[in-house]
Amino acid sequence: MIPTVRLRVVGERFGIWMGNEKDTLILGIESSCDETAAAVIKNGREVLSNIISSQIELHKLYGGVVPEIASRKHIEKINQVIEEALEEAKVTLDDIDAVAVTYGPGLVGALLVGVAEAKAICFAKKKPLVGVHHIEGHVSANYIEHADLKPPFLGLIVSGGHTHLVIVKDYGEYEIIGRTRDDAVGEAFDKVARSIGLGYPGGPKIDKLAKEGNPNAIVFPKAKIDGAPFDFSFSGVKSAVLNHINGCNMKGQEIVPADIAASFQKAVTDVLVEKAIKAAKEKNCKKLALAGGVASNSALRTAMEQACKENDIKLYYPSPVYCTDNAAMIGVAGYYEYQKGVRHGWELNAVPNLKIGER
Ligand code: KG4
Ligand code: ZN
Repeated sequence: MIPTVRLRVVGERFGIWMGNEKDTLILGIESSCDETAAAVIKNGREVLSNIISSQIELHKLYGGVVPEIASRKHIEKINQVIEEALEEAKVTLDDIDAVAVTYGPGLVGALLVGVAEAKAICFAKKKPLVGVHHIEGHVSANYIEHADLKPPFLGLIVSGGHTHLVIVKDYGEYEIIGRTRDDAVGEAFDKVARSIGLGYPGGPKIDKLAKEGNPNAIVFPKAKIDGAPFDFSFSGVKSAVLNHINGCNMKGQEIVPADIAASFQKAVTDVLVEKAIKAAKEKNCKKLALAGGVASNSALRTAMEQACKENDIKLYYPSPVYCTDNAAMIGVAGYYEYQKGVRHGWELNAVPNLKIGER
C-alpha cells in the first residue's frame, strides 16, 4: 500500500486534490473602483460564490467614476455583499481560513472601505489578513477556469488603469517587461467612446458598435517606442480619433461612429497582439494569459487567438465576468499568498499607486 503522505505529495505535484485534507476557504473582498464585490474561493481555484454590486448606472450620469460617490456606495453595500457571498457559498465567517482584500492600486477612498472591512472581520474573528494587489488579482482570474494554467507564463494586462506585459515567474512573482507610457488601453477605449457619443464605460460599447463598422475605413497610428519594444502608448491614437472628428466637422464630412470604433479598435488590438507575440517568442513563453477588463474585448480575443495559433502559443483568458473587477480573482490571488505565508497586520493601508510585486 502507498502511504497517504506519499500519495498526497504525488497528488499535489500533479495538481490532484486528494480529498483527505481540510479545504482552504478564502473570503475575497474588492472595492478599488466602482464595483463592491465579495467572493468565497475553495482551494485557490473553485469559486463558491462571486457577488458583484456594480455602481456603473450611478457613475454613467457623470461620464466616469466619481471617487467620492464610489466610496460612499461601497460603505452602503459592502456588508450586504459579503453576507450574500457567504450565504451563496453556504459557509459562515467561522469556516473562512483567511480574508484577502485589495489594498491597491485604485481610488484611495474606495480601497479604504474594503481594507477597513477586512481588518474588522479579521480582528473580530481572529482570522489572518492577506492584502492583495488588484492587478495580480486580474492575472489570477485565469486560474479559475484553466486548471492546467500554472506559472511560468506571459501575461498581458489590459485594464482601465493598467497596460502591462509581465512574465509570471511563479504565483505572486512578476517581472514587468513592458508598460504603457501614457494612457492605459481601457482608458483610451473610454475616452474614444466619449468622443463619439457613447456612454461610460466605453469599452463594451465600442466592442459592440465596431461589429457594424469597417476596421480599414480610417488608418489610425500604431505607436512604436524606440528602444522599448514591449512598451505601449495609446495617447496618440486617442488624439488621432479627436483630430479625425474635428477634421470631418471642419470639412462638413459625415462622421461614421461605427467606422471610427472599428478602426480605433483595430489599431489598438494590432499593437497589443504584435507586442505580446513578439514578447512570447523572445522570452520563450509558450503560454499567454490575458487579464483585465479589455481582455473581454471580442476583437482582441479573436486576433490574439489567431496569432497564437500561428505561433504555437497556448492562449488563456477569463470569462467576461472574471475579466472586469470582481472579488473571486482577489480570493484566488489571496489563496496563493496565504499558502506562501503572507500575512498583513493591522497597519495594512490603502496604497493607491501600489506597484506590481510590492508587498
Ligand atoms: O479591469 P477593469 O474592470 O478595471 C480596472 O481595473 O481598470 O477594466 C475596466 C476597463 C474599462 O476601461 C472598460 O471600458 C474596459 O475595461 N472594457 C472593455 C471591454 N469591457 C470592459 N474594453 C474593450 N472591450 C470590452 N469588451
Ligand atoms: Zn480592475
